[in-house]
Amino acid sequence: MRTSSTSLLYLLYFIRLLKIDFPAVEPSTTLPLSNGHTNMLNVHLVPHTHDDVGWLKTVDQYYYGDRNDIQHAGVQYILDSVVDQLLKNPDRRFIYVETAFFYRWWKRQSPSMQQTVRQLVDEGRLEFVNGGWCMSDEATTHYSAVIDQMTMGLRFLNETFGACGRPRVAWHIDPFGHAREHASMFAQMGYDGFFFGRLDYQDRTHRMVQLEQELLWRASDSLPPPTADLFTGILPNGYNPPEGFCWDQSCDDPPIRDDPDLEDYNVNDVVSRFLGIAKAQVRRTNHIIMTMGSDFQYENANLWYKNLDKLILYVNALQANGSKVNVLYSTPSCYLQELHRANLTWALKTDDFFPYADSDHDFWTGYFTSRPALKRYERISNSNLQVTCNQLEVLAGPASRTGPFGEGEKKAMAVAQHHDAVSGTEKQHVANDYARRLANGWQRCQVLVSNSLAALSASSAKRIYCDNLNISVCPLTESSRKFAVTVYNPLARPVSWAVRLPVNGSNPDDPFPTMCLVQVVPVSAATRGVRRNRGFAVNELVFQVQAPPLGYSTYSVSLLQNGPPPASMKPRHPAAIQNEYLRVTFDPDTGLLSSLANLETKQSIKLTQNFYWYNASDGNNTESNQPSGAYIFRPNSSTPFIISQTAKTETVQTSVVQEVRQWFSPWVSQVVRLYAGSRALELEWTVGPLPIDDSLGKEVITRLDTSIQTAEVFYTDSNGREVLRRKKDFRPTWTLKQSEPIAGNYYPINSRAFIKDDADQLTVVTDRSQGGGSIHNGSLEIMLHRRLLYDDVRGVAEPLNETSHIFPDGLVVRGRLLLSLERPPVAADTHRLIAQEMVLQPLLTFTDGDLNPNTRLEVRGFSGLQAALPPAVHLLTLTQWDQDLVLLRLEHQFQSWESKVSSQPVTVSLQVRDETPVLKTFQDISPWEVTLRPMEIRTFLLRVVLR
Ligand SMILES: *[C@@H]1O[C@H](CO)[C@@H](O)[C@H](O)[C@H]1NC(C)=O
Ligand SMILES: *[C@@H]1O[C@H](CO)[C@@H](O)[C@H](O)[C@H]1NC(C)=O
Ligand SMILES: *[C@@H]1O[C@H](CO)[C@@H](O)[C@H](O)[C@H]1NC(C)=O
Ligand SMILES: *[C@@H]1O[C@H](CO)[C@@H](O)[C@H](O)[C@H]1NC(C)=O
Ligand SMILES: *[C@@H]1O[C@H](CO)[C@@H](O)[C@H](O)[C@H]1NC(C)=O
Ligand SMILES: [Zn+2]
Repeated sequence: MRTSSTSLLYLLYFIRLLKIDFPAVEPSTTLPLSNGHTNMLNVHLVPHTHDDVGWLKTVDQYYYGDRNDIQHAGVQYILDSVVDQLLKNPDRRFIYVETAFFYRWWKRQSPSMQQTVRQLVDEGRLEFVNGGWCMSDEATTHYSAVIDQMTMGLRFLNETFGACGRPRVAWHIDPFGHAREHASMFAQMGYDGFFFGRLDYQDRTHRMVQLEQELLWRASDSLPPPTADLFTGILPNGYNPPEGFCWDQSCDDPPIRDDPDLEDYNVNDVVSRFLGIAKAQVRRTNHIIMTMGSDFQYENANLWYKNLDKLILYVNALQANGSKVNVLYSTPSCYLQELHRANLTWALKTDDFFPYADSDHDFWTGYFTSRPALKRYERISNSNLQVTCNQLEVLAGPASRTGPFGEGEKKAMAVAQHHDAVSGTEKQHVANDYARRLANGWQRCQVLVSNSLAALSASSAKRIYCDNLNISVCPLTESSRKFAVTVYNPLARPVSWAVRLPVNGSNPDDPFPTMCLVQVVPVSAATRGVRRNRGFAVNELVFQVQAPPLGYSTYSVSLLQNGPPPASMKPRHPAAIQNEYLRVTFDPDTGLLSSLANLETKQSIKLTQNFYWYNASDGNNTESNQPSGAYIFRPNSSTPFIISQTAKTETVQTSVVQEVRQWFSPWVSQVVRLYAGSRALELEWTVGPLPIDDSLGKEVITRLDTSIQTAEVFYTDSNGREVLRRKKDFRPTWTLKQSEPIAGNYYPINSRAFIKDDADQLTVVTDRSQGGGSIHNGSLEIMLHRRLLYDDVRGVAEPLNETSHIFPDGLVVRGRLLLSLERPPVAADTHRLIAQEMVLQPLLTFTDGDLNPNTRLEVRGFSGLQAALPPAVHLLTLTQWDQDLVLLRLEHQFQSWESKVSSQPVTVSLQVRDETPVLKTFQDISPWEVTLRPMEIRTFLLRVVLR
């Protein structure tokens, strides 16, 4: 074991270690026993409601039952009604899932109602399952945001109901495919099992035949079993009741008419239909489950419960005459407990449940990319609002907490993880609502960040934020000649970045500190196009900045009125651009990329890259009438249209940055960019507005074609963590009949994907979740943007046709891909660290005027750590838990097989270096040493004592 020891110390505090353990929940409590009969078929009826935290209506509209013209749904009435009905019969059970809704309801209840509900929970009549703030999407979420939203929901339940409120079972009945990393997280959070409803239709059939609807999911190839092992059950009918047995007010099935004096007595009919369905459900034990509920059901719970009471009564009455079927009110955890008692060995699964198809031309792989702007905004929000804001609150202490903010930003991020939020499968007005919540959260965070930086720097200068630097808009830097920029680094290791600021001056009037390279380059035509009069800078000031771990550096900038002119652009095809690590060549005839070389490792590959679009099916063709839509990707043809064979180019070459600006069409352009000192080649794409005047829906991809011999295999990450192997037209656990050669080979990419052979590995790091595939040998394609003219008939009832007030002609989306070329198999270090820097970006804040009137030039800094953590260790979370406690999560961010150097266990010491009497009271210092194995996450609560 390689051990590296690092001290972690906040400069302003002593920390005292309180507790080491993940999961942060108590061990198993005894569950209420179900009334199972050992010699009978036991049918577990699970009354439940599936309450989307936003979809066709916003989360608040759903809660109140507003806008019932869009969809009849009101969660407040569901909870009112269910509690009322549970009180009427102690046998009745109900499970509740989405804490975002339950929290809204709970805080409006009277103390006596709260006491009543506590009792229902204590008696197991109301049981929480899953318990996250929402039921997160699995294809498009990043694990850090998922852990945070689960923490928020589970914490509320623990603090409100104690051990009896703790969910035992993870319940993802609706997400459209299932990620291995979600199963791994649930296992590590201490869930006993996981149930879901959706999987590929061929997989479902195969598993029914093989009796493998229950399985053991081994969800990590790095964590030693059983750390990431999770019992997984596939529900028999999605999450709906069996046909003919829906007794919600929204359903039309016949009620149980049990008065023999009346004409239409139907008990015998109902009972025999029910027995038929129960007996047809073949499982491995004498216990079966039936989900009795669906979307937003139980608003008038009396309808459901009155009929379920009767169903149980009449079916069980037959036992007196020898029937061997026993029906009971149950919950998923009671059902799971019975399966556990059966002491069977279950089938083992090590891959995941992507992609999901519900029929042969209906692959739910479009939503991997749907609403690319929202997906990016969610990812930036995770970095700014959930990481930087939280860290600075801890680092600056109480001084940060003056002003108008609360839990709002965390809640905005938590609801954005919902499976109709960041997934892009909501209606347009709901997507706007999620974005507005994130923006409001960021407004409140800015107050906190300003307070913290003021406290840490002892400067009260007004902080200014520029959220549109990606399109070169920042009113301060565009107009001011003297300003300071503070760069905060949320990572626990020092990082350097290139900063680009829109300016109208030309060159800085003072040499920057010698280590700081600086250049001025002209703003590109593509950027002027996309900013649409929101800014007027003609140049960009580009310079390298460094920031210490968990800390900041401040740079002051002053610009000359008439400095030397900016770097000139050359309107010709460049032969090559290069820095000390990478060399990139271009085809002189087409202006496209032609090769990529790593000068350190002396490897080189052929690499062409271009943009294409698939013609989205409009639903009018012979095989199927399924159109492409928010969920579904269905190209009309497997051959995409090329946007342009050639690119018009301009080249800017300076000592800080070299870029080739490529123009493909009025709606596709790109900058190929190499910064000095960077091991990553940046491809900054700008796509949109996608033209629809030809009445064709378009799904735009970029494709990298290389000389790497991939044998139709590529690799994608799962929720930003472990990587899975994907093979074209292949599924690891069944023989695939492939019916969609493109859409059926698409997988979610959350932060990175790669292709490799024995000599070369090309990794693409993405700045948001996107869909992608490897359709040809040596090729990797990523879908960037989609604009569609038809709804795909999965409920959202809108074409994915995004516009906004700035872009009435269709959204323009800009993003970045970072490419690295490494030698396998020890390739991970570079691309893993690049991916980490992409997810957690530095936060820039600005102040106008001189930083310090006495010195013209200054770089000031602060670090919250006494020393950097080793590269293998990621500081996943640092956040204020309550007045006195700080939550710290450390993570080993390498897989066990990834890297010779970094895939070793690593030990971090949390001990404060300078000894004090406080610390000497600890006899055994071993709790201060934390050893992390590959992919392990450890959680701590620290008590912070002001020095
Ligand atoms: C659960 O809540 C109780 C009461 O507030 C608290 O003492 C306990 O530490 C909490 N447990 C966890 C794991 O947070
Ligand atoms: C049980 O069988 C007896 C005799 O056939 C019959 O009278 C009675 O109705 C049956 N009970 C039920 C619940 O079907
Ligand atoms: C479970 O099964 C194993 C072998 O199949 C057996 O050794 C063990 O005793 C059983 N446990 C219980 C509690 O029945
Ligand atoms: C579907 O395609 C056929 C053949 O091209 C065409 O005749 C028909 O009008 C199309 N229908 C629709 C609704 O576009
Ligand atoms: C798509 O949006 C454009 C711009 O708002 C609009 O003109 C067009 O009718 C929309 N098309 C569909 C099918 O919704
Ligand atoms: Zn849902």
